[in-house]
Amino acid sequence: MKPIKVGLLGIGTVGSGTFNVLKRNQAEIKGRAGRAIEIAMVADLNVARAKELTNGECEVVSDGNLVVTNPDIDIVIELIGGYGVAKDLVMKAIANGKHVVTANKALLATHGTEIFKAAQEKGVMVAFEAAVAGGIPIIKALREGLTANRIEWVAGIINGTTNFILSEMRDKGLDFDVVLKEAQRLGYAEADPTFDIEGVDAAHKATIMSAIAFGIPVQFDKAHVEGITKLQATDIRYAEQLGYRIKLLGITKRTKVNGRDGIELRVHPTLIPAKRLIANVEGAMNAVLVQGDAVGATLYYGKGAGSEPTASAVIADLVDITRLATADPGNRVPHLAFQPESMSDTPVLPMSEITTSYYLRMQVADQPGVLADITRILADSTISIDAMLQKEPAEGETKADIIILTHQTQEKNIVTAIQKIESLDTVVGHVSKIRLEQLS
Ligand code: NDP
Ligand code: HSE
Repeated sequence: MKPIKVGLLGIGTVGSGTFNVLKRNQAEIKGRAGRAIEIAMVADLNVARAKELTNGECEVVSDGNLVVTNPDIDIVIELIGGYGVAKDLVMKAIANGKHVVTANKALLATHGTEIFKAAQEKGVMVAFEAAVAGGIPIIKALREGLTANRIEWVAGIINGTTNFILSEMRDKGLDFDVVLKEAQRLGYAEADPTFDIEGVDAAHKATIMSAIAFGIPVQFDKAHVEGITKLQATDIRYAEQLGYRIKLLGITKRTKVNGRDGIELRVHPTLIPAKRLIANVEGAMNAVLVQGDAVGATLYYGKGAGSEPTASAVIADLVDITRLATADPGNRVPHLAFQPESMSDTPVLPMSEITTSYYLRMQVADQPGVLADITRILADSTISIDAMLQKEPAEGETKADIIILTHQTQEKNIVTAIQKIESLDTVVGHVSKIRLEQLS
């Protein structure tokens, strides 16, 4: 059978990894796919660099339009990133009847509905394993391996840059800026690193997993997004003393509020028990924990970023498409796991309606009755206390730190209680609030 022809848009970190791995493992990949997979054309703004990387083995152009309109190209890989040119080229590729592989989670989380609809109408596949957790085959696991299950929740460390920063800061006492620069040097960070540190990249990935897990449209605009920039070293230390680690988690859960079904979709720093496997995922590694009703909990661990780990996922998609290219479109795996007519309209809940436990840290005057006032406010809001830590004032100081871990409650209850606690004369400044998940 003649080789399937691939056009590559963007030969940067992931694009060059894809080119190299495909070349190095050509024979094995051909054996698995059933025919050779050949990158026939590359488009990159830096043509000289692209020519050097491809060593005269394929045509190199600067304009991606030449790739997506080339009748000889069967599959287009989009590895440019962003929503501008990338979206335009993906839509043109689909319109021209090309299958698409992309690692672009930002694009899919925001424009996925439009892209998948266009692909459905045209009968082409859009594959995106590399868009979530890099080299970990989590899309395949959620969409195919766990297809028998009613997924209950998914929680993941899905941004390598922030996990690397949190790990290095804790282990080596390094400053935030130093570690971020290192993550950028290693190719983990996004072109705009604020996407990593503000939680946006993790929210893009959580949005995609939520759609596949629960059969809902991709709805990045409904996700709650909180990064690690406001996290204080004090909280990392107190969390450790209480037996917890703080990780930036992407969480999506099926839930019920007042008898109505809803979906939680949120990214924020989270305390998790230090004894959980996922709490020990360090550096740029990613891990995703999935709770299914039949299988129970399953954990997927691996490199979530980097040139060849991400290329591994891109090429897995190329092989899948190559195997299914001649299949009737109705017999292929649906883009979002569920057949389009079986998608659900279960709403993504506002943050005020989510239910979780909380870590609260406050500075208080070291005098009688303070603790009683605080616990009364929590009790009035029907918030039950799980654990408490009081740190005596340092020599010459009059203020003590109080740390409280609560049992589960709705976010709106804790927000109201915090407002009341902050209004007490004996409480100094703001109460720090970090959500806590047992993940059991
Ligand atoms: P890079 O910035 O390293 O590569 C992008 C490449 O696209 C560059 O060579 C760039 O050229 C080129 N490019 C930019 N604009 C155009 C254009 N209009 N036409 C043709 N080429 C263009 O990005 P990455 O490889 O890191 O990321 C690619 C995608 O993969 C992104 O969506 C990213 O989110 C995703 N991803 C990345 C991971 C990683 O570990 N890096 C992991 C998982 C997903 P120039 O340099 O000259 O601008
Ligand atoms: N910037 C991302 C990360 C790359 O740090 O995880 C992988 O998507």
